[in-house]
Amino acid sequence: MDFKSELKKRAIDAEEIIKKYMPKEEGYQKTIMEAMNYSLSSGGKRLRPILTLEACRIVQGCNNNAIPFAAAIEMIHTYSLIHDDLPALDNDDLRRGRATNHKVFGEAMAILAGDALLNFAYEIMLKESIGKENPERYLKATYEIARGAGIYGMVGGQVVDVQSENTKIPKEKLDYIHENKTAAMMVGCMRAGASVGGATKEQMDYITDYAQKIGLAFQIVDDILDIVGDEAKLGKHVGSDIENNKSTYPSLLGLEKSREIAKSLIEDAKKSISKVTDDTEFLHGLADYILSRDH
Ligand code: IPE
Ligand code: IPE
Ligand code: MG
Ligand code: MG
Ligand code: MG
Repeated sequence: MDFKSELKKRAIDAEEIIKKYMPKEEGYQKTIMEAMNYSLSSGGKRLRPILTLEACRIVQGCNNNAIPFAAAIEMIHTYSLIHDDLPALDNDDLRRGRATNHKVFGEAMAILAGDALLNFAYEIMLKESIGKENPERYLKATYEIARGAGIYGMVGGQVVDVQSENTKIPKEKLDYIHENKTAAMMVGCMRAGASVGGATKEQMDYITDYAQKIGLAFQIVDDILDIVGDEAKLGKHVGSDIENNKSTYPSLLGLEKSREIAKSLIEDAKKSISKVTDDTEFLHGLADYILSRDH
């Protein structure tokens, strides 16, 4: 498999799915749809939809039933970015190569656009469950995404991230932040994909372990890129973490050690996913890509 072109192809597929689910810009409340679509359509790697679809495919052989969940997770992820960039949180003005949502639509609309994307995601997922012959799988998938995004996941991690600015925290607390603000959404979306695909308990455990490890490595690399990355490639400002005096892997352990830890997480993730099926070439490539990515 030529991984690079496969990844590109999958990102294009995810793009098509997201486009299909974007709200129409109409009605008195039109501005909110414009704000939602502004951030949804400004690119991004689409990693979470790709993971959702692939988790379903490796257990079921196809991924059609996971499509709404792929769209929903990207909406929740995009909401988390809009809110993460707000002045009250990271106060960033560049995202996905464009002005951040609040810079274009103002803070009130950016807050509402985040709320709207979150809610719209649940509308999509629950609509999918209604009237299904086997609604259990779809409800379970919805639960997995809700859990990954909430107080025992992304929101929980963001809370401790914000509270840990300007303080030195132990590594266990930093791991809590990274595992929740970032890895939990990857765990949630892969478990959702695997749920609609009908994964066994054993498959689910290995998929969870893979997602947790690539998720933590993903955030470690994000922290590293915030120091050594190229702004034009990243589409967001470098140096944001230092400016906000954030607790990050490099700030606590240095760049070299952070790279080492990310590398070993990726090796362990690949071992776990190999135990699900022998059709995991793409997920091996994706794990390696997370480590070597420059954006
Ligand atoms: C950015 O996520 C937020 C983090 C969890 C570090 P991505 O790096 O996946 O952002 P996009 O979706 O590609 O813009
Ligand atoms: C944010 O982590 C993770 C989210 C839940 C959005 P960062 O604050 O490091 O993400 P970037 O660097 O702004 O994308
Ligand atoms: Mg942040
Ligand atoms: Mg940020
Ligand atoms: Mg960052």
